[in-house]
Amino acid sequence: MNHFQYKNDVLFCEEVPVAEVAAAVGTPFYLYSAATLTRHFQAFDSAFSLPHITCFAVKSCSNIALLNLFGKLGGGADIVSGGELFRALKAGVDPKKIVYSGVGKSEAELRFALQSNILMLNVESHQELETLQEVASSLGVTAPVSFRVNPDVDPKTHAYISTGMAKNKFGIPIQDALNSYVTARQMSNIKIVGVSCHIGSQLTDVSPFVESLQKVKSFVERLRQEGITISYLDLGGGVGIRYSDEEPPLPAAYAAALEREMQGLDCSLVFEPGRVIVGNAGILVTKVLYTKEGGKKFVIVDAGMNDLARPSLYDAYHAIKPVVRTNSEEETVDVVGPICESGDFLCRGRKMPAYTRGDLLAVMSAGAYGFSMSSNYNSRPRVPEVLVDGSNFHIIRKREDYESLIAGELIP
Ligand code: LLP
Repeated sequence: MNHFQYKNDVLFCEEVPVAEVAAAVGTPFYLYSAATLTRHFQAFDSAFSLPHITCFAVKSCSNIALLNLFGKLGGGADIVSGGELFRALKAGVDPKKIVYSGVGKSEAELRFALQSNILMLNVESHQELETLQEVASSLGVTAPVSFRVNPDVDPKTHAYISTGMAKNKFGIPIQDALNSYVTARQMSNIKIVGVSCHIGSQLTDVSPFVESLQKVKSFVERLRQEGITISYLDLGGGVGIRYSDEEPPLPAAYAAALEREMQGLDCSLVFEPGRVIVGNAGILVTKVLYTKEGGKKFVIVDAGMNDLARPSLYDAYHAIKPVVRTNSEEETVDVVGPICESGDFLCRGRKMPAYTRGDLLAVMSAGAYGFSMSSNYNSRPRVPEVLVDGSNFHIIRKREDYESLIAGELIP
């Protein structure tokens, strides 16, 4: 359930007509619903009865207003860069609820994380472990470590966002991970606190999660036999959402399936959900600039692949709805952006109501990996982000201007 609904053919976000925001901020823009964000966060977080921390995956939508909201709801943050750590801290997230994943953390990033006193670093290679030991020693601190293990499980999702198979770059192969723990145990500035894994994104079936947990569980038992105990088991993110007709597991079903496997494992759980919380809590609003007919009919809008990369990058489906419904006839069109590439489309060959110049369109399910993956390609200023809360709306990121495009550039 989300709070983007029609009332008398007019699309509302909570109590605010979407067109009213468009009139105030111009197009394109991202629009999020605070009630939906809260609802999705709480539905996920309260689905678990075992001790756990819900660390929102910052990469999915990084605006500090959202990170602040989840922090207030008791959530933490899953980060993958120094920049994301900076955001989470600025947003007021408790550092003791921040976990840091990623295959390529630099020394400077490791230092920043240690100085910030975060909950744990999910280490993904032996060389990273050695570097972390050196950095921690130079700072005179102990690094809380969890190894990200790669369980070699097929998450049955798009190849680009599958991360837990042997052929993927992520984590340490689970069969080799015992060595890493045994080595880490002897390091003076490393403290072993957990085991982590994240197998992929937009999973619509719980079975790969269960399969991976079973493998991780046997591994934790093996660690115990070696006298290594852990406090945290980080199961990553990955729960999918409905973009069109997918039937992803509800948080309750996901939680029940995992908790069933958790019996006897005496540790706290960490989750890193992103999409399942923000995906359907945000839309991208764009305006029809022109229509034209060539080999086919094109609806040219003012948002492009630089604003929402998912259709171009993954051939992802996003529903496109009118901001004001009319009973115009349907036609089959490509909705395309202004970018100079044929890969710049929001949808292709889709049947929709006939649109004309000036019509506002809502690109649905755009809250996750929408704004956070946007760029300035074609020197297009990035669009504003707006947060609706009841009958009010707040600009939580201003539209960039031309000056911001060249900020930091120098002519020698
Ligand atoms: N934890 C780690 C270590 C991750 O790499 C990710 C996502 C998450 C958690 C959150 O996964 P989620 O719950 O959102 O599925 N740009 C792609 C998705 C990339 C996912 C990257 N990692 C897309 O637009 O579909």
